[in-house]
Amino acid sequence: MPSFGRDRRALLVGGATGLLFAAGAVAGPKGPDDEKEVSAVEDMMREHGVLRRALLVYAETAARLRAEAGAIDPKLLNETALLFQAFGENYHERELEEPYVFPAVRKAGGAAAALPDILTAQHNRGREITEYVLRVTGKASISAADAEPLARALEAQALMYQNHAAREDTVVFPAWKNALSESQLDELGEKFEEIEHKQFGADGFEDAVRKIAAIEQALGYADLSQFTAPSPPR
Ligand SMILES: [Fe+2]
Ligand SMILES: [Fe+2]
Repeated sequence: MPSFGRDRRALLVGGATGLLFAAGAVAGPKGPDDEKEVSAVEDMMREHGVLRRALLVYAETAARLRAEAGAIDPKLLNETALLFQAFGENYHERELEEPYVFPAVRKAGGAAAALPDILTAQHNRGREITEYVLRVTGKASISAADAEPLARALEAQALMYQNHAAREDTVVFPAWKNALSESQLDELGEKFEEIEHKQFGADGFEDAVRKIAAIEQALGYADLSQFTAPSPPR
């Protein structure tokens, strides 16, 4: 029997006013600084958001490396790779997806069950690329000889992981959500929060967002409007 969880309840109450009423009825009125509960799936998807911002740094910087390798501060790329490793590989992949999400999706069967093997291979390849990026950017400057192979590795990682996260968001996470009951998902949401606190302290996600924002600022990518596409040819 389908469960009657938060999402359906909100949909049935309907609209923004109904949503506020439903949230207030369940949890009491909230001030602007109170944190609202984050579901397990939302948690995973917003973590992808942090990783996508790191991939934007990779893709944009790859182009600049080819044009002006000497002008790129390797420390900023090194910090991006360290964030990807700590938040993406050692937390999101190793602590959440590999022990919790992938086994449930494999067990549930269906089309999504074929993906975890490929996704795990991509986690492993990503870790190799991160180690390489850390090695090359751990020096005072990026040599002309390293610029092209580094640019290629950054682009390859960005292409792989953009597609990786997109499949997880659209196929794997929905299959995972379908395979679990509402109460199992709620329990996992709390479990994931515990893991996050254990790994990073109180504000793992918020700290990761602050870190990537500081890197974007230093590299000149902070102003989102610069990425608004030009008008197409008429
Ligand atoms: Fe993954
Ligand atoms: Fe993921």
